[in-house]
Amino acid sequence: MGMNEDMADKCKPLNAHLDAETIKKREIELAASLTAESTDLIPFLPYLLQDIYELGSSPTDIEALLRENTDFGPWFRVLDLACGKGAVSIHLASKFGCSVRGVDFLQDFVNDAIRKSTERFLDRLCRFEWQDANVSVECERGYDLVILGAAGNVLGDLDQTLHKLRQTIRRGGYMIIDDAYTTNQERTPHYTWQDWLDAFARNGVKCIAHKTFVGNNLEQVNAKNQQLIIQRAEELKQRHPEFAELFDSYVRAQQEEIDELEGDLMPLTWLLMKE
Ligand SMILES: C[S@@+](CC[C@H](N)C(=O)[O-])C[C@H]1O[C@@H](n2cnc3c(N)ncnc32)[C@H](O)[C@@H]1O
Repeated sequence: MGMNEDMADKCKPLNAHLDAETIKKREIELAASLTAESTDLIPFLPYLLQDIYELGSSPTDIEALLRENTDFGPWFRVLDLACGKGAVSIHLASKFGCSVRGVDFLQDFVNDAIRKSTERFLDRLCRFEWQDANVSVECERGYDLVILGAAGNVLGDLDQTLHKLRQTIRRGGYMIIDDAYTTNQERTPHYTWQDWLDAFARNGVKCIAHKTFVGNNLEQVNAKNQQLIIQRAEELKQRHPEFAELFDSYVRAQQEEIDELEGDLMPLTWLLMKE
């Protein structure tokens, strides 16, 4: 895990080195990763999402993928990029006793993750940090598993994402990517199943297994979460009527994403290995 000076410099605390243009770009990606169409929503996202702990990936599905296909154990070192409130990291630490480092660009989420891991007496195993995942991939090395859960294009396109994730793990190490494929690219543009497979082949990554959410009570979870968000959006509208349209637009965007995920987009979690 030796770090040269250049790397050490890149890994300084977030606000110490990102220039204004990069911060703006990251904020746009951050908003998009949480289905917000405007960066104006960023200050309100922690409030809107306060009732939801599992923000994207299913911790139990990831646990199952690892149990069924790897020798995952307490000796594993895990890097969870765009970890949100740490639901996956904390789950893996509690089930396997592995050590996890989680980074996220939203400081309130990082604070939640730290609080949750401390409450569960897992702070010895979990370390959470406010950081841009694009910075972390430049300095984190030698992990046994890297996770990118429901974070969309925060690391770039498919090739850029695989390349960046790949460099953080040892040869023979694992990657978990929670995302989706489209069954109708014209109607719902996204990567197709074949796009994923081609990108794995181009980037020296072997597909070990995958899990889809079909039959996995996706619709109930989505409906419940949407209800919670609508309620919080209504509260915000009372407090800030001048931003009513902003909050309504968030609720609409969430519903559109749910419709896509229950339509042409097939959510799935990949388990991959670095060749
Ligand atoms: C839908 S949430 C998924 C959270 C978590 N991975 C999970 O599955 O529960 C997407 C996360 O990506 C984070 N994010 C977006 N851009 C980021 C970046 N450049 N660096 C780190 N985190 C980022 C957001 O703050 C948010 O927590």
